[in-house]
Amino acid sequence: MARSSPGLLNIMKYTISILVAASLVYAQQAQYQQCGGINYSGDTTCVSGSVCTKLNDYYSQCLPGTPSGPSAPTPSTLPRLGGVNTAGYDFSVATDGSFNGTGVPPPPSQFTHFANEGANLFRIPFAWQLMTPQVGGSINETWFSSFYDPTVQAALASSPDTRVIIDLHNYARWNGAIIAQGGPTNDQFASVWTQLAQKYGSNERVIFGIMNEPHDVPNIATWVDSVQHVVNAVRAAGSKNFLLLPGSSWSSAQAFPTEAGPLLVKVTDPLGDNSKLLFDVHKYLDSDNSGTHPDCTTDNVQVFTDLVTFLKANGNRQAILSETGGGNTASCETLLANQLAFVKNSFPTLLGFTVWAAGAFDTTYVLTQTPFANGTDQALWTAAVKPNLP
Ligand SMILES: *[C@@H]1O[C@H](CO)[C@@H](O)[C@H](O)[C@H]1NC(C)=O
Ligand SMILES: *[C@@H]1O[C@H](CO)[C@@H](O)[C@H](O)[C@H]1NC(C)=O
Ligand SMILES: *[C@@H]1O[C@H](CO)[C@@H](O)[C@H](O)[C@H]1NC(C)=O
Ligand SMILES: *[C@@H]1O[C@H](CO)[C@@H](O)[C@H](O)[C@H]1NC(C)=O
Repeated sequence: MARSSPGLLNIMKYTISILVAASLVYAQQAQYQQCGGINYSGDTTCVSGSVCTKLNDYYSQCLPGTPSGPSAPTPSTLPRLGGVNTAGYDFSVATDGSFNGTGVPPPPSQFTHFANEGANLFRIPFAWQLMTPQVGGSINETWFSSFYDPTVQAALASSPDTRVIIDLHNYARWNGAIIAQGGPTNDQFASVWTQLAQKYGSNERVIFGIMNEPHDVPNIATWVDSVQHVVNAVRAAGSKNFLLLPGSSWSSAQAFPTEAGPLLVKVTDPLGDNSKLLFDVHKYLDSDNSGTHPDCTTDNVQVFTDLVTFLKANGNRQAILSETGGGNTASCETLLANQLAFVKNSFPTLLGFTVWAAGAFDTTYVLTQTPFANGTDQALWTAAVKPNLP
């Protein structure tokens, strides 16, 4: 988030599916030709180097891409997503990954409140130290079963379509030291995810947010190796959940195409194709992109245009904007509405968003989206977020 405060995210709804046709040797459709859809009767296979991609029920098109194997599996898909970070279990995680708080449960009533308005994605951040009090150690079952899991279950129960991002909110750090770069080992990092994969691996509505906002990471290639290590560990634990892979510079959507993105697109999924490896990006709209000011100065449309271009050019990959937001001010109402409309229209490359933040934040926090006690929404939610929910 929003550097000096905690908070997070949530997830999804309608669908695109990428259909990988069996390879045939004749009558294949050329790149950008139609290859499927209701009442379409032509060939459904695409020339080499392109993949038949369902854009909607009526139209599938041969888009550049590589099917991943001789009998490539049908890649997995998520619907269009939109919602909010429900913060609290991350409160007092510092940006150096230290923590000495206790966490505050997000009010469960918010999940139905927002779901009734069309939200289908909730991001639920947590402090690593709350989940595993010792680095690389066991999950605190008391805390998990009394606090975190009931919150996740409340979110999942808000609608059958709801997706939940469980977000390890530690900035690639534990108590001031960076994973595999002076801090915890890759195995210690993977350990928490192996355990969470054992708990949530049977529910594909749970998306694993591998790490919130890595920043000031000395070696980005080494960081990407750490990400690959976690991907391998989660799959070794038997989980097929969607994974949200973070880059660098506070998960900056702007830096992604030139910084971590070119390395992260090379991370592979032992499942066989990359359709379940999504990228995690953040972007605020204030003057220094910190998410700490009430006023907004940009709608970031150029940033997201560049991001979409990069993702399409690198195998039609997908991202979720898991943090964005602004104050309940006129400038943010206009600019965030523009930005979220652009994100919504960039589906399926951009699957959706979760704004920062509701949950345990009170209604005076500078970026608060927590509804008032009388059930009324914040001004920004009403003007910019709600109209762009799925
Ligand atoms: C598909 O074809 C049938 C039969 O011609 C027609 O009734 C139907 O409206 C068509 N559906 C669409 C979506 O075009
Ligand atoms: C933890 O406690 C120490 C000592 O009171 C304080 O300096 C530090 O800011 C605290 N860190 C967080 C993340 O609250
Ligand atoms: C485990 O969680 C419980 C409930 O929140 C807490 O009281 C206890 O101190 C935690 N244990 C450790 C070792 O942090
Ligand atoms: C709900 O409470 C807020 C904050 O006190 C107030 O601004 C708003 O007018 C109230 N709405 C209704 C419908 O009472």
